[in-house]
Amino acid sequence: MATLSLLDETRRRRTFAIISHPDAGKTTLTEKLLLFSGAIQIAGAVKGRKASRHATSDWMEIEKQRGISVASSVMQMLYRDHVVNLLDTPGHKDFSEDTYRVLTAVDAALMVIDAANGVEAQTRRLIEVCRQRDTPILTFVNKMDREVRDPLDILDEVERELGMPCVPMTWPVGKGKTFGGIMNLRRQAMTVFESGSERRPQDFDTVPLTDTEALRGRFGSEYEAAAESMELAAGASPTWDHAAFLAAKQTPVFFGSAVNNFGVMEVLDALVDLAPSPQSRKSTTVVNRQPVERIVAPDDPAFSGVVFKVQANMDPSHRDRIAFVRMASGKYTPGMKLKVQRTSKELRPTSVVTFLSQRREAVDEAYAGDIIGFTTHGGVQLGDTITDGSVSLQYTGLPFFAPELFMVVVLKNPLRTKQLQQGLAQLGEEGAIQVFRPEIGGPMLLGAVGQLQFEVVQHRLGAEYDCDVRLEGCPYTGARWITADTPAELKAFTDAYPQRMALDAANALAFLCTSPYDVRLAQERFPKIHFHPLREHA
Ligand code: G4P
Repeated sequence: MATLSLLDETRRRRTFAIISHPDAGKTTLTEKLLLFSGAIQIAGAVKGRKASRHATSDWMEIEKQRGISVASSVMQMLYRDHVVNLLDTPGHKDFSEDTYRVLTAVDAALMVIDAANGVEAQTRRLIEVCRQRDTPILTFVNKMDREVRDPLDILDEVERELGMPCVPMTWPVGKGKTFGGIMNLRRQAMTVFESGSERRPQDFDTVPLTDTEALRGRFGSEYEAAAESMELAAGASPTWDHAAFLAAKQTPVFFGSAVNNFGVMEVLDALVDLAPSPQSRKSTTVVNRQPVERIVAPDDPAFSGVVFKVQANMDPSHRDRIAFVRMASGKYTPGMKLKVQRTSKELRPTSVVTFLSQRREAVDEAYAGDIIGFTTHGGVQLGDTITDGSVSLQYTGLPFFAPELFMVVVLKNPLRTKQLQQGLAQLGEEGAIQVFRPEIGGPMLLGAVGQLQFEVVQHRLGAEYDCDVRLEGCPYTGARWITADTPAELKAFTDAYPQRMALDAANALAFLCTSPYDVRLAQERFPKIHFHPLREHA
């Protein structure tokens, strides 16, 4: 292929994550997307992840699977001359703040729902993060080969949950035993369903939608019912507006059956045709000692990116970590100098992984939208901006998400207090857990969004800092970071709830709550206090 310009390289990139509830079909769909785009050799890694689903959360198991999860946390495919990066959102027992943070590194999300169950709890949590960031969302309604809910009913639920209208791109004819296929509204053709996982997408028979005689003849009353409900859906939805989708104000909806390879190509094509390429990003730079906003275009020649995930090496004899950088601009080439903006220190990683190099020989470069992973022995924090040193800028930080689970840390040997503090500070920096110090004193609190985070931290405190700790339950179920317009307002608030106030690792003030009503009540009592579910990394 001829050498492309920086602009062309960025324009052909798509970076997305799949959001779903366990068992909706994320693994199956991921595998099919990789298969049909031609990235076959990576499909094994997806299977590896799948095997881990059934594993216990036993620590040794986690350790064994690290290799797999590093390899499969970014999957890259080349499809129709586009480079599509799929970032894994760890789920099930792996659910952690990393799951949320991955969503800060993508330009679009693909929501997969089980047509029998609709939008489920884990998806709802992830949707919230997408909504906060106005991330465009594509919707895939999976398992149409089963006895599932009425498509109109599903659309209605998706609209309510997402808070944006659905625009069907395909429409199912029948379901379960009578599932006849999908009508592709853009191509004006029906793709006829056949079960089986060996079939390639191009093998499915198609019938033009204008040939109503043939459709009636083959699908009878199922076709009549589908045509009618499709008309109802079309009447109730707005017309497709690409700009509205990009602004997260519409979601295109596709129906299919991932396990049967059905409806998958439509999704892959939509990622290329509809999902956005990397966009310009806001950063701050210093001019004459004053912070000034600077917009960085993805084809800006200077390399820049943000660390959105830091993964510790679980092998205690290797204390290195892997930092994952989502590139925002420029081009990465091997051997390039990397600089941490926060400290102005140069990084000399022993190895840098780009994910394109797995696929094509001798290609070892990355562009905006791509993810690179490099080893580090410290000096890199979550949210750090990395550049090639030719520019000085800082991207607005990575958010911290309000924890939903809390535990009290009790040190078994009080002589190890200093080590505990050091350990928690480092694990907090890495984003493994959030640490809160209650203002009234007492033991520290750990905050997480996934149970496994506690197990990991407890294990690592023992293995890496020689701190044997016990974790005990506590009544908190949420936290909100607090700000106020005036110090007097803030003081009135903290005076009213002294036992609920805590400082996090960055000394940001948080209000601990035991139920969502707490926040509502506190907000009613103190209407001028701002309660934030996210805290931006300083
Ligand atoms: P997840 O990653 O979202 O957790 O879901 P995964 O892909 O593992 O799929 C969950 C189960 O749903 C799997 O069955 C999978 O085969 C099945 N599945 C996925 N897509 C479809 C579909 O379109 N139709 C039907 N009928 N089933 C689907 P399992 O029994 O848990 O695993 P397996 O033994 O089949 O691998």
